[in-house]
Amino acid sequence: MPTRSLERRQWLIGAAATLATPQLAGLATAASPLIVTPGQTEGPFYPVKLPADMDADLVRVKGQATEAVGQVTHISGRILGKQGEIVRGAMVEIWQCDAHGIYNHPGDSGHKRHDAAFQGYGRVQVDAAGRYAFRTIRPVAYPGRTPHIHFKVHAPGVGRLTTQMYVAGEPLNASDGPLNGIRDRKARESLIVALAEAGDLEAGAQKGTFDIVLAV
Ligand SMILES: [Fe+2]
Repeated sequence: MPTRSLERRQWLIGAAATLATPQLAGLATAASPLIVTPGQTEGPFYPVKLPADMDADLVRVKGQATEAVGQVTHISGRILGKQGEIVRGAMVEIWQCDAHGIYNHPGDSGHKRHDAAFQGYGRVQVDAAGRYAFRTIRPVAYPGRTPHIHFKVHAPGVGRLTTQMYVAGEPLNASDGPLNGIRDRKARESLIVALAEAGDLEAGAQKGTFDIVLAV
């Protein structure tokens, strides 16, 4: 079974097995069901070994004198059920390549040249409103891929989702394999996030909102 359908199957099993005790709370705010965030391949670059510093600020690594190279970007959002319910207690992981397109992973041929000041991976628990936030860099392209950030959501009692976030306006989006493998236009577009100036948060930074909707 291809990895993607296996992941999907595991997701469905996980969701079905836990319907009796979903960790959902809050008001159903959606007038009609939200678009369930589509799953995406995990890809080959999930960390082999989690870094010592794996907090929500990927731009600053403990022990490094400088910050990461790249465009500082704040990505935040909520973990929701498809009726708009808040999903409590979720943990969100992200990982991505550095500003030169290199992952801190032995499977990346250039990994010895990886920007040591870029954390590359981070994780955070959602707050009481189901929100997460990361300070990272704007993702860049590497051979064969349009810019993206990998996400994995673990929602105890609800399920798990692995996906990728993309950036609106990136020309390589039109030819990217994993992105265009999502045949449904609305589902595909739900992974594409518009980035805007974020001077209110940090001078010179950008920001974007990526809400993740679980199939519950
Ligand atoms: Fe990737």
